[in-house]
Amino acid sequence: MKVLIVGSGGREHAIAASVAKSGKVDQIYCAPGNAGIGQIAQCVPIGAMEFDRLTAFAKEKAVDLVIVGMDDPLVGGLVDAMEAENIRVFGPRKNAALLEGSKAFSKDLMKKYHIPTADYAIFSQAEDALEYLHTRAKFPVVLKADGLALGKGVLICNTLQEAEDGVCAIMTERRFGSAGSQIVIEEFLTGREVSVLSFVDGKTIRIMSSAQDHKRALDGDKGLNTGGMGNFSPSPFYTKEVDDFCRKYIYQATVDAMAAEGRPFKGVIFFGLMLTDDGPKVLEYNARFGDPEAQVVLPRMKNDIIDVCNACIDGTLDQLDLQFEDNAAVCVVLASEGYPVKYEKGFPITGLERFEGKTDYFCFHAGTKLDADGKTVLTNGGRVLGVTATGATLQEARKKAYEATEWVDFANKYMRHDIGKAIEEA
Ligand code: AMP
Ligand code: GLY
Repeated sequence: MKVLIVGSGGREHAIAASVAKSGKVDQIYCAPGNAGIGQIAQCVPIGAMEFDRLTAFAKEKAVDLVIVGMDDPLVGGLVDAMEAENIRVFGPRKNAALLEGSKAFSKDLMKKYHIPTADYAIFSQAEDALEYLHTRAKFPVVLKADGLALGKGVLICNTLQEAEDGVCAIMTERRFGSAGSQIVIEEFLTGREVSVLSFVDGKTIRIMSSAQDHKRALDGDKGLNTGGMGNFSPSPFYTKEVDDFCRKYIYQATVDAMAAEGRPFKGVIFFGLMLTDDGPKVLEYNARFGDPEAQVVLPRMKNDIIDVCNACIDGTLDQLDLQFEDNAAVCVVLASEGYPVKYEKGFPITGLERFEGKTDYFCFHAGTKLDADGKTVLTNGGRVLGVTATGATLQEARKKAYEATEWVDFANKYMRHDIGKAIEEA
C-alpha cells in the first residue's frame, strides 16, 4: 500500500511511525512533513491547505489511503475534495468536522442531545456579549472564539474587566481572525482534565486509552495556553466509574447525535473532558488525534493502524477489537523559549541519534526542518520535539522521558519540568 499523511507536526510523526509498523505499507508520503517524518516517509512540499495539489498528488502516485492529521484541512473540506476524486481517505467530512470547527455548533449539539457540558450562551454581537457579562455572568467566566484558533482562542477571565477586554480582543480586534465572529461565554468548571480519543465509523465508536495534557506554558499550570507541553497515558484519574459514565452519556450519544443531524462522523473524535464533582463534562471536541496526545496513545496501540482506518471508512468498526498495551507513556515537549508568543527558529539540534534503534524511546518531531546541507536538523517551530518514553508504569515512563530530554540539545531549548507530576499524587 501507499499511504499519504497530511500535516507536519508531532502528531503526524506519531501517525507515520504507526503506519510504518504496518506490514501492509510499502511507501509513506507526508505533506508537508518535517525532518523527523522524513526519516520514515517521503516528504512532499505541498501545504495542508493546497487541496487541488494534494488531490492531484494522491492520484498521480495512486495512493491507497490518505490520513488527514490536522484540523484546518478537515474543517476546510479536504476529505470531501479527496472523496470527490474517488480517493480513499480517513477523516471526517467538512459537515462533521464542524464538531471541532465551531464551538457554537458543538455546544448547541450537546444541549439538544443532553450531553453533559458547561452552561453557556452564544453571541454574534459584542454589545450583546457585554450586556450578558454585566447582568448574568458569574466569575471566573470562560470566553471562547467560535472557530479554530490553534487551541488559543479560549480565555479564562477572573473579573468583569478581564472579560470585557476578552470580548473586545476576540470580537472587535479579531485577535483570532474570523474565529471571533461568534463568541461562546461559558460557565467555569473545575476538576481534572482528561483527553479521550476514539475511532468512529459513522455509527460505532471505539475508545482509545486515556491521556492527560498539560496545556499551559509554565510549570504549575501557569502562563498562557499552548497547543500542549507534554502529556501521559493512561490517566490514573480516568477510572472505571468515569469510563462507565462517559460510555453511557457522552461517547455513543455524540456519535448518534451527529448521525441524527445528517452529519455522520468518520475518523477520530477527541473528547476533552473535565471530571467535575457533578460528573464528567465535555469541555471541547476535536475532530482529529490530539497533539501531543497521539504521541503517547499511538505507541501503545496494539492494532495495525491501517486496519483501524479501513474499519472506520468501511463502517465495520463493530467487528474490530481495539487493544492497547498494558503499559504507560509520557511525552515531554521540547519547545523554543518564548513559545507560544515569540521565539526564534533555525538552530541546529544535536543528539537525535541517541533514539535510533530503541523501541521504548521516541523522539517525535514537531517543528523541525533539514538544513540546506540535507543533514543538519534545525528547529523550525514553537514546539520542536516530543520526547516520549514507554514503561511498565507511569512513574517509570516519566523517569525515562525526562532522562531522554537530556540527550538532545538546541539553542533556547525549553520544557516544563512537571509533566506527569500528578501521577505521583494519584
Ligand atoms: P478548549 O480549547 O475548549 O479545550 O479550551 C482550552 C482549555 O481551556 C481547556 O483545556 C481547559 O483547560 C480550559 N477550559 C475550557 N473550557 C473551560 C471551562 N468551561 N471551564 C474551565 N476551564 C475551561
Ligand atoms: N493537545 C490538545 C489538542 O491537540 O488540541
